Amino acid sequence: MGLSETDALDVEGIRADFPILQREFDGEQLVYLDNAATSQTPEPVVDAIVDYYHTTNANVHRGLHQLSQEASIAYEDAHDRVAEFIGADGREEVVFTKNTTESMNTVAYAWGLAELGPGDEVVMTEMEHHAALVTWQQIAKRTGAEVKYIRVDDEGYLDMDHARELVTDDTEMVSVVHVSNTLGTVNPVSELVDLAHDHDALAFVDGAQSVPHMPVDVGEMGADFFAFSGHKMCGPTGIGVLYGKEHILEEMQPYLYGGMMISKVTFEDSTWHELPWKFEAGTPVIAQGIALAEACDYLDDIGMDNVKRHGEQLAEYAYDRLTETGDVEVYGPPGDDRAALVSFNLGDVHAHDTSEILNEFAVAIRAGDHCTQPLHDKLGAAASARASFYLYNTREEVDKLVEAVDATRELFA
Ligand code: ALA
Repeated sequence: MGLSETDALDVEGIRADFPILQREFDGEQLVYLDNAATSQTPEPVVDAIVDYYHTTNANVHRGLHQLSQEASIAYEDAHDRVAEFIGADGREEVVFTKNTTESMNTVAYAWGLAELGPGDEVVMTEMEHHAALVTWQQIAKRTGAEVKYIRVDDEGYLDMDHARELVTDDTEMVSVVHVSNTLGTVNPVSELVDLAHDHDALAFVDGAQSVPHMPVDVGEMGADFFAFSGHKMCGPTGIGVLYGKEHILEEMQPYLYGGMMISKVTFEDSTWHELPWKFEAGTPVIAQGIALAEACDYLDDIGMDNVKRHGEQLAEYAYDRLTETGDVEVYGPPGDDRAALVSFNLGDVHAHDTSEILNEFAVAIRAGDHCTQPLHDKLGAAASARASFYLYNTREEVDKLVEAVDATRELFA
């Protein structure tokens, strides 16, 4: 069935909200397929940033002047909006950070350094992004804990039997990616969270590639921690989110110290502000937070179920078209069971060369290891080319991608 017959999105209407999509390079209209790296920003979100600076900009120390009061309320309300978007219980569970990586590091430093020691284990997967992999690896080195990796099978799925073998009573943390930014695999995170809890371990889910593309309910998922970034979901750069269960965040010590996160300071000691401010030291990401709340409104107006279906349909179409000729290897699960991206290699052509030729057609993709070097080692590929889709992409743009891959084939034949 064609995309136009099933698609619930008014893609042309949506595209009108993203003027950048009209850009041309040497007469070719931009085909932006690098959404897993960063998404484009719709007018209402840009307007929210401009409006904030035009009307409300002040620091949020809850100063006594009116502007500061207004900025404080808008910033605090933004936490509620994000909490609602991901199904958290309230603002206490939503910490604004710089990005997913900083959210990871917050837990690794604040929880990991305090709780891990020799004999403890952190279980990850072979498809983790460096944001999790490198972070837990380093914390393990510092604490004497051991890191283990759940195997990825030949189809790009997690080997759940291996997961059940690896997660034991020695496991303290199970840290898993929700959607692989390289394979497009959607992992059974609730099952992994349950597995962690069966062994009294905590579960951290990296939602950088899931929150922008599908409905997410952290309460239903049961994860203790969950992280994602604003800039991959129509929001601005410079803001990430750390969700944590309130009682766990309550018990954790802060990761960054300084102004804003304190309650009482003397020359001898200090006490901490209430959640989530205890984890937001210094002047926080005020404009970004307010704009992220607007991005949540934007996506909810369109409907996350619709966004999900649209991305999956484009990924399936791209998978089918790219594999027609038999000389393109697409990594990860079959076309009808993946999130909104395809990573591939054309024969022996290096992904960087593919990307450069695609650029001649104004087709923007990412080429490289996508911050998953160990996974690429396992795939036997130094790099891959990745096309990643979002709510404003069309079937015609996938056709343009395939045309550009055809041209690359001819050039390297
Ligand atoms: N982690 C982002 C990506 O996969 C930057 O491109």
